[in-house]
Amino acid sequence: MQISELELDIEKSDFSFDPAFRADVLNGLSQTQKAIPARWFYDLEGSRLFEAITRLAEYYPTRVERGLLDRHAGQVADRLGLAPTIVEFGSGSSIKTRILLDAMPGATYVPVEICGEFLAEACAGLSADFPHVEILPVEANFMNPVSLPSPRGSGPMLGFFPGSTIGNLQPRAAVDLLRSMRATLGEGSSLLIGIDRLKDRQRLLRAYDDADGITARFNLNLLQRLNRELDGTVPIGAFQHRARWNDDWSRVEMHLEATRPVEFEIAGETFALDHGETIHTENCHKYTPAQMRTLLQAGGWCEECHWVDGDGDFSLILASSVPDLAGP
Ligand code: AVJ
Repeated sequence: MQISELELDIEKSDFSFDPAFRADVLNGLSQTQKAIPARWFYDLEGSRLFEAITRLAEYYPTRVERGLLDRHAGQVADRLGLAPTIVEFGSGSSIKTRILLDAMPGATYVPVEICGEFLAEACAGLSADFPHVEILPVEANFMNPVSLPSPRGSGPMLGFFPGSTIGNLQPRAAVDLLRSMRATLGEGSSLLIGIDRLKDRQRLLRAYDDADGITARFNLNLLQRLNRELDGTVPIGAFQHRARWNDDWSRVEMHLEATRPVEFEIAGETFALDHGETIHTENCHKYTPAQMRTLLQAGGWCEECHWVDGDGDFSLILASSVPDLAGP
């Protein structure tokens, strides 16, 4: 750490705020429908709460996707060989990656993760259990183009994007991301992606509003971050977690709803919400299998294998990059 950074920390001046976080929050809270991008959920506490969500009875995606990976990782290895470079976008705890590394023991692993503390923790655990796997961590927001470190090996590139994280994005942004992943991974690469399926509305809503209130804590932690990191005065007790189904967009939305009129400051600016007004914090789009194929195609990826669990809850798709010069 440089001396100038130390001084800023002590002074707690505006410059000690993460400028991207500050800009996203001030911007988002100035809109008619107040909103904060979902990626800011994931500080260390938020990442831990998300891990707790993945163990909830109501939250089926993680469990079902893990089952699909267990069953089909061998087929991925058959197609790509045992030594691909696996680039995981938003690697979190890297738990699912272990299934891939078991099936492809010669792989190089490049986790791309926005939360540096969480990334370090996950890499330490992985290298203890897979001492022969080369791990090249990248602390970055995968929504921006990522420049990859050069791996030792020369195996094929395999993007890994599990968890239906793609569902956080509106289709237009999802297509942009798929295209940028294709640019990052290059011609001839593959993508293994997990996408949650459209299903019964009540089951979807329960997955985002669990009985133990863990998802509520995950959502409300965002307000704590505002107070901790952006000099906020948000009365957290005046907000409640809300999960709603938006049928026009085919998505679950998470909101933080004011239970009374509130006024607070963030980074020196004042904001107010009426009773019942919300801050929109997350979108989780749900797709049909045909929509998944179209989304991938629009992003430059061609579906090669589409695996689904017996209940039709979740899809695991292996796609290959579409060559730049396709036919008419
Ligand atoms: C990590 C984006 C896949 O949308 O299901 C879980 C995040 N939010 N519960 C999802 C989340 C609330 C999760 N993703």
